[in-house]
Amino acid sequence: MEIINALKNRRSYKFSFEKKEVEKRIIEECIEISQWAPSAHNCQPWRYIIIDNKEQRLTLVDKMNEKLRKDFKKNSKSEEEIDIKIKLTREQFLNSPFLILSCMDSSVLYIYPDNERNKNEFILGNLSVASSITYLLISFQKYGLASCWYSAPLFTREIVLSILNLPKTYYPIAFITVGYPKKKEIKPPIRQPLKKILFISSNFM
Ligand SMILES: Cc1cc2nc3c(=O)[nH]c(=O)nc-3n(C[C@H](O)[C@H](O)[C@H](O)COP(=O)(O)O)c2cc1C
Repeated sequence: MEIINALKNRRSYKFSFEKKEVEKRIIEECIEISQWAPSAHNCQPWRYIIIDNKEQRLTLVDKMNEKLRKDFKKNSKSEEEIDIKIKLTREQFLNSPFLILSCMDSSVLYIYPDNERNKNEFILGNLSVASSITYLLISFQKYGLASCWYSAPLFTREIVLSILNLPKTYYPIAFITVGYPKKKEIKPPIRQPLKKILFISSNFM
């Protein structure tokens, strides 16, 4: 029951955090747990970077937003819509007690003689990191911490690698914000009825 509650009660927390300090030891413990996620060939390509320097965090977030703003403009979003979207996540990224970057390290992936398998291997690497991030988000709950997965780093790879001086084999996957939540009750977003996501193969015949 405990695990089912943990799975169902995990929420993406997009509100203010308490000022209460989060001990680094707790973050390390949760990252240790996240390593128990499954990974293709047990390659464990996940890498976690705690962005601990405030100035570096600010520079990174602002540079990423410049790129995201340009991208949003391409989908003909209005300046106003873009401002709202960017302002919201900017505050989350800057005010989160811990900001963790998760990356996929492609240097540990299998190499094949053909492109098709290399492409699929790359997907497997990303999926493995995603499984570890999910474990991480769930494990934060044990300590009363709230967190959220943000995809912005995936869209701003060059900027992230250059500002954090990360190896060229790294592929940024997500930012994870984490801290003690101010808002205690969050209405869970709806889930689809089972009949919309579960099918029987013979019904397709
Ligand atoms: C792959 C992935 C990418 C996500 N990216 C973002 C994001 O960029 N911004 C955001 O606000 N939430 C992001 N989320 C959180 C989702 O919005 C959230 O999981 C979804 O609305 C369901 O809510 P819940 O996590 O509380 O169940 C992401 C979640 C996943 C799994």
